[in-house]
Formats: sequence, structure tokens, C-alpha cells
Amino acid sequence: MTPLILLALLAFVSPIRAQNNTNGTTVTPASVEQAFTSAQIVPDVLPSFAPETLLNVTFMDQATGMPISVTPGVNLSMEQTMLQPTFAVVANTSQNATSVNQTFVLAIVDPDAPTPQNTSISQFRHMLAGDLRVNGSGILINSSAALSDFVPPTPPAGSDPHRYVILLFTQPPDFDTMAPALVNATTPRTNFNISTFGQAVGLGSPVAGTFFLTGPSNSSNTTTGNDTAPGPLSTPAPAPSPTGTSSASEAGNHVLNTMAFCVLISTMGVLL
Ligand SMILES: *[C@@H]1O[C@H](CO)[C@@H](O)[C@H](O)[C@H]1NC(C)=O
Ligand SMILES: *[C@@H]1O[C@H](CO)[C@@H](O)[C@H](O)[C@H]1NC(C)=O
Ligand SMILES: *[C@@H]1O[C@H](CO)[C@@H](O)[C@H](O)[C@H]1NC(C)=O
Ligand SMILES: *[C@@H]1O[C@H](CO)[C@@H](O)[C@H](O)[C@H]1NC(C)=O
Ligand SMILES: *[C@@H]1O[C@H](CO)[C@@H](O)[C@H](O)[C@H]1NC(C)=O
Ligand SMILES: *[C@@H]1O[C@H](CO)[C@@H](O)[C@H](O)[C@H]1NC(C)=O
Ligand SMILES: *[C@@H]1O[C@H](CO)[C@@H](O)[C@H](O)[C@H]1NC(C)=O
Ligand SMILES: *[C@@H]1O[C@H](CO)[C@@H](O)[C@H](O)[C@H]1NC(C)=O
Ligand SMILES: *[C@@H]1O[C@H](CO)[C@@H](O)[C@H](O)[C@H]1NC(C)=O
Ligand SMILES: *[C@@H]1O[C@H](CO)[C@@H](O)[C@H](O)[C@H]1NC(C)=O
Ligand SMILES: *[C@@H]1O[C@H](CO)[C@@H](O)[C@H](O)[C@H]1NC(C)=O
Ligand SMILES: *[C@@H]1O[C@H](CO)[C@@H](O)[C@H](O)[C@H]1NC(C)=O
Repeated sequence: MTPLILLALLAFVSPIRAQNNTNGTTVTPASVEQAFTSAQIVPDVLPSFAPETLLNVTFMDQATGMPISVTPGVNLSMEQTMLQPTFAVVANTSQNATSVNQTFVLAIVDPDAPTPQNTSISQFRHMLAGDLRVNGSGILINSSAALSDFVPPTPPAGSDPHRYVILLFTQPPDFDTMAPALVNATTPRTNFNISTFGQAVGLGSPVAGTFFLTGPSNSSNTTTGNDTAPGPLSTPAPAPSPTGTSSASEAGNHVLNTMAFCVLISTMGVLL
């Protein structure tokens, strides 16, 4: 059993502006629903959305070691969203509460790939995982490998920020037999559709969700010019010299292998 949680602090030199996005605003299911509509995630991703509970998503800022809470619509940088976040359901952990023994499916999709103006390869599937259960702290823990491991946002240079939509569903009984026939390691992440997939496996409406916005990194062209060159994760040395030759649009090809922490050569070829 592999926890979904990444607890690694990786050496990473980057001028990350601290952001405190937890400004005390109270998030409720109704405010999340409103935020989804304002951002047109309804109808772009979901025909409707009526969350029953709250999904807490928390990234770890590699520069500061501080948690970054995803409030709906918050702006986050590529650096801040590099590592797989933790997911928590603001659940009633009473022994009698239905959430205690509930199994969940979690998805992260980008409907703005490669750009919000050109969605020809949307949705891009950043993560798809089932068999998640809450522990006594409300943290979602997986008991099987993800169908699609988390890959971080890599919007291409020049793109407006993308919406990264995180959705939680109750898991239907036959999900583990049906879903891998539709999504597995060989299934392209591009041109995914969470609603079509959801209908095929009987996911129903999401019970919770949130989203964040991430645009291309301003400094990405100084560190990630070559797919095979050391990326930010393995470049603790100060101020690597700019390559100057590669466009920042190459910057997105660094995919964090959440198990091994290595920078893989992405075959995606596209930036999401
Ligand atoms: C962020 O803002 C909230 C609300 O104002 C405050 O309680 C919290 O201490 C701040 N956190 C940091 C790390 O500044
Ligand atoms: C707090 O953040 C929310 C969304 O993140 C925003 O709508 C609201 O205006 C902010 N409030 C203050 C006082 O900054
Ligand atoms: C995110 O950034 C955009 C522009 O960069 C700004 O218009 C918007 O208000 C920001 N959203 C939040 C929640 O801070
Ligand atoms: C969810 O986030 C809120 C605000 O950041 C926090 O007060 C609450 O304890 C979190 N709940 C869980 C289950 O993580
Ligand atoms: C939980 O359910 C059991 C059996 O239905 C009942 O006896 C008990 O009072 C319930 N506990 C709470 C805290 O609701
Ligand atoms: C959750 O599972 C435990 C152990 O199987 C059981 O005792 C408990 O009644 C279940 N709770 C609910 C709400 O189904
Ligand atoms: C948690 O669930 C129990 C059993 O369903 C219920 O009695 C209790 O009021 C719930 N607590 C909250 C905070 O919702
Ligand atoms: C839209 O994006 C796709 C994939 O990157 C690209 O092949 C295509 O040329 C783009 N279309 C326009 C009109 O920019
Ligand atoms: C839930 O899981 C988190 C992450 O593994 C852990 O830190 C926490 O202690 C767990 N809570 C309980 C009650 O087991
Ligand atoms: C993997 O998914 C593809 C669809 O992308 C499907 O055609 C294939 O049959 C699946 N493989 C298995 C072993 O189910
Ligand atoms: C990215 O590269 C361009 C062209 O070399 C340069 O003008 C720009 O300043 C670079 N951006 C950053 C943040 O280094
Ligand atoms: C990128 O790395 C590969 C493999 O090390 C190398 O062959 C290629 O020349 C490099 N390209 C640039 C532009 O540095």
C-alpha cells in the first residue's frame, strides 16, 4: 500500500514569491459551487455541480516547506504545484458517518490544454485514482495504484493560466474492474473527458471538488531548456546559466515521478 502523500522536501532554488491564499474566507459547498460556475467549469467540465462536502487539497511549497491550501480559484505557480498534493475530505469521522467506510475516486483534469483559447487536446488528465478512503484525520489514502499518476501543471509559455479541476466521486462497486479497461498506463492523457468516463463507469455527480489556476513559470526558460537536462528538481546549484536557445515552451516536459522523484523524459510532447 502506497500512501498518496508525498512528504519529500527537495532541494530547489527558485525565487518563489510567498503566497498566502488562505485569507480567512470561509469556504462552503455553496461557495465552491458558485466558484465553479463563475469560472465556467460548469459547463466546460461538468454539466452541473452540487457538492455535498469540501475537498481540501494541500500542496507543499518546496522553497518554504509550508503547506499551500487550494481555495477555489486560487492562483498558484508551477513551482508551488510541482509535488503531488494531499487530499482531505472535510468529513464526519464519527463511526456512524457514511464517509468513514466510503471509497472514493479522485480526478484532476485540465480543460484548457494547450491554452484556454485552443482546447484541442483537452481535457488533459493529470490524475485518476480510485480506492481512496479517509483515515481518522480526513486524509484520503489510496489502497491501490493510481490509474494515472499525478503529473504537475506545465502550461506552455505564453499561455494564459489553465484551470486545474480536482473532483471527488463516490466509487461505484465495479469501478476496479471497469475503469482499467478504459484508462490505464497506455491511455493517452490528452482528450480525456471526465463526464464521458464518469458515465461509462457510473461515477455519478462529484461529491466535492475544487480548482486552482496556474500559468507558465516566468523563470522556466532558465532551468528547463532541454528535456534531458537536469530540471529544477535536480538543480540545487545557484542560478543555473540560461541556455538562451530553447524556448520556454519546452519547460513543460518535466514530469515528476511521484514514486522515484526523478525527472522523466516526457513523451507527452505537449504542455498542459
Ligand atoms: C495566512 O493568512 C491567514 C489568515 O489571515 C493567517 O491566519 C495565517 O497565519 C497566514 N499564514 C501565513 C503562513 O502567513
Ligand atoms: C480571499 O480570497 C478569495 C478567493 O481566494 C477572494 O474572493 C476574496 O476576495 C479574498 N478576500 C480578501 C479580503 O482578500
Ligand atoms: C489570479 O490572477 C489573476 C490575474 O493574474 C487575477 O485577475 C485574479 O484576481 C487572481 N485570482 C485570485 C483568486 O487571486
Ligand atoms: C480543511 O481546510 C481548512 C482550512 O484550511 C481547515 O481548517 C480544516 O481543518 C481542513 N480539514 C481537513 C479535514 O483537512
Ligand atoms: C451509531 O449507530 C448505532 C447503531 O445504529 C447506534 O446504536 C449509536 O447510537 C450510533 N451512534 C451515534 C453517535 O450516532
Ligand atoms: C464501517 O466499517 C466498520 C468495520 O467494518 C463497521 O464496524 C462500521 O459499522 C462501518 N460504519 C458504517 C457507517 O458503515
Ligand atoms: C456526524 O455523523 C453523526 C452520525 O451520522 C451525526 O450524529 C453527527 O451529527 C455528525 N456530525 C457532524 C458535525 O456532522
Ligand atoms: C492548437 O493546439 C494544437 C496542439 O498543440 C496545435 O497543434 C494547433 O496548431 C493549435 N491550433 C491553433 C489554431 O493554434
Ligand atoms: C492520516 O494520514 C496522514 C498522512 O499519512 C497522517 O499524517 C495522519 O496521522 C493520519 N491520521 C490518522 C488518524 O491515522
Ligand atoms: C487500456 O486502455 C485502453 C484504452 O486507452 C484499452 O483499449 C485497453 O484495452 C486497456 N488495456 C487493458 C489491459 O485493459
Ligand atoms: C526567458 O528567455 C527570454 C529570451 O531569452 C528572456 O528575454 C527572458 O527574460 C527569460 N525569462 C526569464 C524569466 O528568465
Ligand atoms: C539536449 O540533450 C540531449 C541529450 O543530452 C543532447 O543530445 C541535445 O544536444 C541537447 N539539446 C540542447 C539544445 O542542448
